[in-house]
Amino acid sequence: MDTVIRNGIIVTATDRYEADIGIEKGKIAALGRDLDGTETIDAQGNYVFPGAIDMHTHFELPFMGTVAADDFETGSIAAACGGTTTFIDFAIQGEGESLHQALETWMNRAKGKAAIDYGFHVAIGDMTDEVMNVEMAEMAERGITSFKVFMAYKGTFMVDDETLFKSLLKARELGALIMVHAENGDVLHYLINKHVAEGKKEPIWHARSHPPEAEAEAAGRAIILAGLASAPIYIVHLSAAEALEKVKEARDKGQPVLAETCPQYLFFNTAHYELPNFEGAKYVMSPPLRDKGNEEFLWQGLISGHLQVVATDHCPFNFVGQKDMGRDDFSKIPNGMPGVETRVPLIYHFGVNEGRFSINRFVELVSTNPARIYGLAPQKGTISIGADADLVIFDPQKEVRLSVENLHMNVDHSPYDHITVRGYPVLTMQRGKIIVRDGQFLGEVGAGQFLRRSRTLL
Ligand code: URP
Ligand code: ZN
Ligand code: ZN
Repeated sequence: MDTVIRNGIIVTATDRYEADIGIEKGKIAALGRDLDGTETIDAQGNYVFPGAIDMHTHFELPFMGTVAADDFETGSIAAACGGTTTFIDFAIQGEGESLHQALETWMNRAKGKAAIDYGFHVAIGDMTDEVMNVEMAEMAERGITSFKVFMAYKGTFMVDDETLFKSLLKARELGALIMVHAENGDVLHYLINKHVAEGKKEPIWHARSHPPEAEAEAAGRAIILAGLASAPIYIVHLSAAEALEKVKEARDKGQPVLAETCPQYLFFNTAHYELPNFEGAKYVMSPPLRDKGNEEFLWQGLISGHLQVVATDHCPFNFVGQKDMGRDDFSKIPNGMPGVETRVPLIYHFGVNEGRFSINRFVELVSTNPARIYGLAPQKGTISIGADADLVIFDPQKEVRLSVENLHMNVDHSPYDHITVRGYPVLTMQRGKIIVRDGQFLGEVGAGQFLRRSRTLL
């Protein structure tokens, strides 16, 4: 073997056992005892997880008059330091653009910069006949097997129900998956303008302009349209208990409805918008944080299986120079938060250490389910013979405070600064190469490979 990881406790979505892992040519080649390798890594006392997959990032996203602070280099390095070995970002089609042009733009941003493997979803912004009848199929051929539809951000990304419905019909034919940002964009647009006109401009009014009912309505509508099109649907960054109810209702009837939530909705609530000194701006994103108590419904959704994935929606903006663009008007605060580096330790600490779910469920939520749903299994998302040797050695005793100084994301604050987690990645490996050891990036900028994804395995 080229490399052997010895004595670790291997954890997948289904198993937990002690064994060595033999790696050859970047793939897992053997699982067993006393394997020999040119290089050996001792994982005694540590877990070995499949590399985590964050299928919801926005590196270098131009948005609300600025650009997300992490580019593909800084964002992917930070991801690796936090135990993530694959990300899927979004190429967003502008008006008059083809899907190919949108993909090219984002591919060029990632090329030479991404330090870990990556893929793209394409967000449909201009549903022409060509897009529906030709380009969506061509995208699937190029390994883009998921498409996003924004039901919110009127005036920029939002599209109408006809676009959503056509996307669903075509995706069904292609075996692709439609993902929705589920909020009623017309209602939000009205409420934002009304509140600003009334002089209600503090960050809390962001939440009051994005009520949970607007999320539930859009989620319910998207689910009904998906049913009508006989297509599966995936709801991104689900935040409100009311929206989760719509998912539960549909799933309990057997409809293929999938949904993710993100750490920010599990740890914060609307009280954060009222922090002094404009600190609330750090938590402005869409959908917004919800009232205290909502968090527990989301944890329950992860436990019960009604929610299948924890992703990040990583879209960081500096407090100084970006978030403060909206100091006098919440509607000008760029929407988004950092998270690509902190997801794995947060979900481990608050999910597994705190007894909410098993360590297998943790692996399923951060790695295996994203791989299965987004056409990356069995190459990614598990530890099995033939899979890529994307592995994380995780020390369950290591304590780390999630402060800016201990993190690598290119942003001037950490929303999780007050939290010290127990359990942290100590080594990250991609296709057999060590890319992070003890918080130090040892990989190569630009070494991440574009992943042509196959059809979803629902
Ligand atoms: O506030 C957010 N979520 N920003 C990123 C764009 C999106 O809606 O996913
Ligand atoms: Zn969104
Ligand atoms: Zn997003």
